Amino acid sequence: MSLAADSFSQDPRVQEAKKLIQSALEEHQKRLEGHRSSHPDLREKYEQLLKDYTSARGGALWYPYIGSGFGKGALVELADGSVKYDLICGIGPHYWGHCHPDLIESSIDAALTDTVMQGHLQGNKDSVTLCQTATKLSGMDHCFLTTSGVMANENGLKLAFQKKHPAHRVLAFEGCFMGRTLSASQITDKPAFRQGLPANMDVSYIPFYDASCPEESTKRAVQTLKSHLNRYPGEYAVMCFELVQGEGGFYPGTRDFFMALIDVLKEHDVSVFIDEVQTFGRTPKLFAFQYFNLEEHVDIVTFGKVSQVCGTLFNEEFKPKPGLLSQTFTGSSASIRASQVIFDGLASNKFYGKGARVEQVHERITGHFKRIQSEHPGMIEGPFGIGAMIAFTPFSGRSEHVIPFTKKLFENGVITFVAGVSPMRVRMLAPVGSITDEQIDAALKIVEETLVEYAEQENGALAS
Ligand SMILES: Cc1ncc(COP(=O)(O)O)c(C=O)c1O
Repeated sequence: MSLAADSFSQDPRVQEAKKLIQSALEEHQKRLEGHRSSHPDLREKYEQLLKDYTSARGGALWYPYIGSGFGKGALVELADGSVKYDLICGIGPHYWGHCHPDLIESSIDAALTDTVMQGHLQGNKDSVTLCQTATKLSGMDHCFLTTSGVMANENGLKLAFQKKHPAHRVLAFEGCFMGRTLSASQITDKPAFRQGLPANMDVSYIPFYDASCPEESTKRAVQTLKSHLNRYPGEYAVMCFELVQGEGGFYPGTRDFFMALIDVLKEHDVSVFIDEVQTFGRTPKLFAFQYFNLEEHVDIVTFGKVSQVCGTLFNEEFKPKPGLLSQTFTGSSASIRASQVIFDGLASNKFYGKGARVEQVHERITGHFKRIQSEHPGMIEGPFGIGAMIAFTPFSGRSEHVIPFTKKLFENGVITFVAGVSPMRVRMLAPVGSITDEQIDAALKIVEETLVEYAEQENGALAS
């Protein structure tokens, strides 16, 4: 028996309408060929829009960014008519770029289904497929979907606590970021993000890996871990790992470093929780824990951003008791379909491995930075990071220069973002699913020109 849902989506009229939309998309995307400044006719209206948004949301935006809702791969059109290279992708999510035909198609398919949002009480077939895909590709036993990275983390923490009740303490790395709910903001190692909030978590910190002294930093981390565990025997439930510190500034650890800690954690029955909200899809393997070869040792893994729908992956012994986890929403039907397209695309052998797209994009972007280094000595440090997480440090990482530099870069047509505190770095989370080599070259040319422009303009201030 064929389902009405299938006969509707396969109806020739629907198929024809989809074809027409795709051909219109292709035609209008021809208008976006490179960076473009804002249009004088739209500027006044845009300024007002920014003011209205600032007032409605109760705070100014970091960048004066309001999208038009149109783009082409790494190029995005703003509502002021400007077109920019998007090398930050909403801090990660737009891995397939803007207006990718496959995501337009999956969104149309989603729009033709019965509900805008899906949930844990009433999910559709596509949620089942997505859960199965995430568990298969991660090798974990179960997957619980949710709408944000921080909620995936909250759910993961609940699993860890419930398993080791009444242990209530958490271990995490110095400089880590876990999100901004009440609990996650206690773990996120940034005092400003929890200012004025009640402390509802007992968190102890471990120093992260220092590439300049691998053995010493590993020893220091293990000693700190042991001293925490000895001070509060049996009270730690979980240690949260960011394998490449994201918000902290794109600092990767190593397998040896992580294993030195994991061995101690296992001895003390403390679960290993890997937060892959930022790393998912961006390291040279689908999951960073696979890249660092930690498959045998992880208990809970969260993913987000690139995956559109977020999730908590966990092994059998962490299965929650009824009632612990549930939410109205798993995600929108469009995000669930898009997630499937992205998971399938990432699993297709085009992205990971020698010479595959993540490596190509990495090499091309970092190649530009190495050239900039040698042509403009002292202007930047780096490049840093791995895979499609690339950062550099301009102007000695002084925030009073790095922040205005990124704003100038935005004005000039390339969107990036900052990470870390001291030094503050500029980070890039490029849309690997669609960016072309030509777009990388054009965007990096603007980065180079803006570095020179900023250095010339701030010559006196930079020297002081
Ligand atoms: C490592 C990490 N964990 C958690 C989060 C929170 O994700 P979300 O902003 O989707 O709640 C982020 C977001 O930047 C992150 O980088």
